[in-house]
Amino acid sequence: MELKSFIRDIPDFPAKGIIFRDVTPLLKNPAAFQKAIDEMTKILQDMKFDLIVSPEARGFIFGAALAYKLGKGLVPVRKPGKLPYKTVSIEYNLEYGTAQLHMHSDALQQGQRVIIVDDVLATGGTAAAIASLVKNVGGEVAGMCFLIELSYLSPREKLKDYDVRSVLVY
Ligand code: PRP
Repeated sequence: MELKSFIRDIPDFPAKGIIFRDVTPLLKNPAAFQKAIDEMTKILQDMKFDLIVSPEARGFIFGAALAYKLGKGLVPVRKPGKLPYKTVSIEYNLEYGTAQLHMHSDALQQGQRVIIVDDVLATGGTAAAIASLVKNVGGEVAGMCFLIELSYLSPREKLKDYDVRSVLVY
């Protein structure tokens, strides 16, 4: 099964010139979704880590499935005003616009190793911001795992310090 055939390209969404990689066809196909999670599991096989950290909204889907499959905990990273306890936050640049992300200030214990999981790695801004949050609260970034990497946006230039792994590269 070719996983890329379950990713739908939407030109000019959410802004002109952006090709949006829509994972909803993959999510609604049970075999494709299972294969996506299995492939993400495989590329993480040799990684030693304690927790998965994922951002809303689509990151939660893949982060939660991987956490369940690998028997790890999940730490959510959220947009402003969503997390109920004390947070640390960071502002960052998106492929389209700027944004802010928050994480609970007590989400990690000192030295805990995490994998950052998301559906798409585009400019790398979100992943780099999450890595800063992880370090701000005392964690270590063991690696990063994505279903889709948009290599033509050169996200790895922002992520030189990290072990970045992805299943599908465009
Ligand atoms: C998308 C995607 C990643 C991020 C990648 O999320 O799910 O989190 O963009 O882009 P970057 O590498 O350029 O930072 P989006 O901001 O669209 O949020 P959503 O999942 O809540 O729709």
